[in-house]
Amino acid sequence: MFSKQPPSSPPLSFSAKAARTEESPISSLMAMALHNPNLISFAAGLVDAPTLPVEQCAAITRRIFADRRRGQSALQYGTTLGLKPLRERLLSHLASLEGRPAAAFGITADDIIVTTGSQQTLYLIADVLVDPGDIVIAGNPSYFVFTGTLQSLGATVHSVPMDEDGMDVDTLERLLERLDDAGQLGRVKFVYCVSYYDNPTGQTLSQERRERLVEVVKRFSRSHRILILEDAAYREMGYDTWILPSIKSFDPDNRYTILTQTFSKPFAPGLKLGYTAMPCDLMHAVLRQKGSHDFGSSNLCQEIVLEALRDGSYRTHLQVLRSQYRGKRDAVLSALEAHMPGGVGWTTPKGGMYVWLTFPRAIDTSARGAMFNRCIERGVLYVPGDYCFHPDESGQVPQNCLRLCFGQVSHDQIDTGIQHLGKVVGELLKTTPIVLGDSLGCCSLNPEPRTRSHE
Ligand SMILES: Cc1ncc(COP(=O)(O)O)c(C=O)c1O
Repeated sequence: MFSKQPPSSPPLSFSAKAARTEESPISSLMAMALHNPNLISFAAGLVDAPTLPVEQCAAITRRIFADRRRGQSALQYGTTLGLKPLRERLLSHLASLEGRPAAAFGITADDIIVTTGSQQTLYLIADVLVDPGDIVIAGNPSYFVFTGTLQSLGATVHSVPMDEDGMDVDTLERLLERLDDAGQLGRVKFVYCVSYYDNPTGQTLSQERRERLVEVVKRFSRSHRILILEDAAYREMGYDTWILPSIKSFDPDNRYTILTQTFSKPFAPGLKLGYTAMPCDLMHAVLRQKGSHDFGSSNLCQEIVLEALRDGSYRTHLQVLRSQYRGKRDAVLSALEAHMPGGVGWTTPKGGMYVWLTFPRAIDTSARGAMFNRCIERGVLYVPGDYCFHPDESGQVPQNCLRLCFGQVSHDQIDTGIQHLGKVVGELLKTTPIVLGDSLGCCSLNPEPRTRSHE
């Protein structure tokens, strides 16, 4: 892909951070999918293309550019914090999601920053808080792109298990106690939690755990505040209308929690617009960093989103999208039920676009294993679960799980793809000795164990 250097040129001298930054595993999966358009890709977190709001965005941009002054301002640079009318609108949007005025959790429009996707927020937050050797606590498994960011910043990631109620807060509390005993509490910077329809597991943090999480970090915030980075990227993609209050809503003074959301998944990733509410002392540091990154996100994209919120097209679009994803989730679950051999477990998400599968420990789902390669041969791609796990103390990660994303695949592809997947698993189970009592290995995300015999 890159041109060759003349043989005589000396090597480049990279920064320590560049050397720590590895290529994201998703890049090679995406390249594989693009290379082979016939591949049924359950891998990349792409959204459902037919529901993307093309007509709505066309009508909105026509309106923006029909007004010369507004058109000029959309094509101009903006502020680092983001368009004020958009931030005001986002404040009322957040309040309506919570069902409470924003004042109840201590935020104003100036506590909200608009970023180039929520990924930029995740990066900026980590960048202003983490020095090499500092500690970040995350669920296990968790969103692997951010784990890569943390690794490139030199963070030590400690993890706590996930179950059907999300991150296990009791284990988190014990971990903080242990870190305290070891004199390391001062290095703990934040707890990262995907609070709704998690990527990769599809699980949601229960209401009781949300409240306790805030209580626990407050209790351990002695020399400095330990923050909660609440990543609510999938919050508005619940299939039911009622959604839980955010973790942030249990932090009435806006001191301990950062709430980041995005328009990528619920509207259009091509706009690449995210927004984040955070404590004001953190905001100052983040603004300085964003200033040196890009001094503000695209004004045009901000105008488009503002219009979509104002004219109701965002709300209408969400309804279409939720029913589309609910249908796809149902298709995935029926296909798993129909085609997966016994001994395989999977989650049942109530929103978002991910299902997490757990296999008997003898089945190796990693990219080096037989299963991954046989699936590719049959035209199916998934995300190996080991990409999403943090290593334990001995450096090991579970190798018997995988993530299916049903965002981009069509209904027909869902059944065909899972049928192929089931066949590969069935073949492997026939040739792989299974130890009794070991049916689901080490992953506790196993709400519905299957006991059917191997077909
Ligand atoms: C959990 C989670 N957080 C954040 C992001 C970043 O999305 P964006 O930067 O497009 O808002 C993603 C994207 O897949 C995600 O899955």
